[in-house]
Amino acid sequence: MDELLLVNGPNLGRLGRRRPDIYGADTLDDIAEAVAEEVTPCGWRVRSVQSNSEGELIDAIENAYGTVGAVVNPGALMMAGWSLRDALADYPSPWIEVHLSNVWAREPFRHQSVLSPLASGVIVGLGPRGYRLAARALVDLVPQQRPPADRTD
Ligand code: DQA
Repeated sequence: MDELLLVNGPNLGRLGRRRPDIYGADTLDDIAEAVAEEVTPCGWRVRSVQSNSEGELIDAIENAYGTVGAVVNPGALMMAGWSLRDALADYPSPWIEVHLSNVWAREPFRHQSVLSPLASGVIVGLGPRGYRLAARALVDLVPQQRPPADRTD
């Protein structure tokens, strides 16, 4: 079965409890479920990875070259995650960068992403629905090999 990679970086494991005024009340499990809802109809499963360590995220990406696409919220690694950037540069499928908050309306140090130039698209400021929209965009962007009904794997 085809898989969509969902990557969440440092501090995002605490979603739901971390600054709900900024990041909302949804947990990472809620978000993974919402993404699954978007992609299940086209026969994709969600592989969800969260880590506070850049190296672990890179390992997860290296082990996911077979996935059809990725939704990536790098957290603060957006600003200086050069190793993560190199890993994503090698990732062979389309991927979309998502930020729950509108980073442009926040502190100036959040106004830069070293990853965005490599992304197929970037969604910021729409809260958890940004992940859904990214998943939906990937459904459009990723060429479907065969209709799910024809598949036996
Ligand atoms: C974030 C924005 C980042 O600046 C911050 O470091 C995060 C969350 C967001 O989803 O809005 O951890 O990526």
